[in-house]
Amino acid sequence: MLTLLNPDTFISGERLARELNISRTMLWKEIKALQIQGFDIQGITGKGYKISNLPESLSPDFIASKLLHQKHLGRQIIVFDQIESTHSKAKKMMADKYNAGTVLLAKRQTLGRGRLGRHWSSPEGGVWMSAILSPGLPVGDIYKIGLSAALSTITALSQYGLEAAVKWPNDIMLNNKKIGGVLQEAAGEADNIDKLVLSIGVNLNFRSSLISEVAPNAISAMDSLDSPVNPNEACINLINAINENIGFIYEGNWDTVYSQITKVDYLIGKEVNLVLPEKKVLSGKYGGIDSFGRLVVDTGEIKEYISMGEIVKVLYED
Ligand code: BTN
Repeated sequence: MLTLLNPDTFISGERLARELNISRTMLWKEIKALQIQGFDIQGITGKGYKISNLPESLSPDFIASKLLHQKHLGRQIIVFDQIESTHSKAKKMMADKYNAGTVLLAKRQTLGRGRLGRHWSSPEGGVWMSAILSPGLPVGDIYKIGLSAALSTITALSQYGLEAAVKWPNDIMLNNKKIGGVLQEAAGEADNIDKLVLSIGVNLNFRSSLISEVAPNAISAMDSLDSPVNPNEACINLINAINENIGFIYEGNWDTVYSQITKVDYLIGKEVNLVLPEKKVLSGKYGGIDSFGRLVVDTGEIKEYISMGEIVKVLYED
């Protein structure tokens, strides 16, 4: 029904009933049910039905109806009003292979998780999403999924005129502050990762001042746009972008994704201080993300290729 209804033109009840293969009475009941769910569906005698607005509240049915395809993400979409963490929930669900393709969304999280065991503030108004994937890639290729998710988030935000960038490994930056991040956890054999949870958090429709005590470097889309964006639309754009990029990866076209990532690299031209896992600090000129997902640092003496660690300080070159 939601795929057939259109904001621009009326579609007759007769045609809707025919295409959906249901009776007119059933059609009327379905329309009522959607209206109760918050969809603004207008019915005019002699003209038919049209949908006026995007639903304001996250709707799994609406999101599913607008996906370009559901090959990788979106075979099942579940929305929670409140949950501890979509990531933790998805990790439990990924044990069942039939859950591959499931997307979990939450309006708010009470125990949101960030990278490196950090807390992730998740008040109402963000995109808090986890997806269960079965990539079947070798463990050494899993970085491609995380980077492509960051790129997809940047693409989704660009539709609102927001020019975000990726900060290695998986932070999403806007105006030198963090607007979102990607977290992923995989399981399986080294040559065949068949279970993966890909999670994305984006600060969308709340002011970052709400979370500034715990996340002082955060920014939100609302800070920049001064008005909220539709959460369904944001999730649709994000899932469509991930489906496209993951498709490229599975088809062996990583280069198509990688070349776009290099264009939205936040650290280009900057001096960085990098803390490696064993707390060793490395300083030098940032040399980009290579096609193996490694951070390249030019220390002056040698070029280092880093696959694990975290940028702790970015020194600007001005
Ligand atoms: C980071 O540290 O930058 C990654 C943040 C990932 C946050 C998302 S929000 C949805 C999902 N559920 C969680 O508990 N965390 C991830």
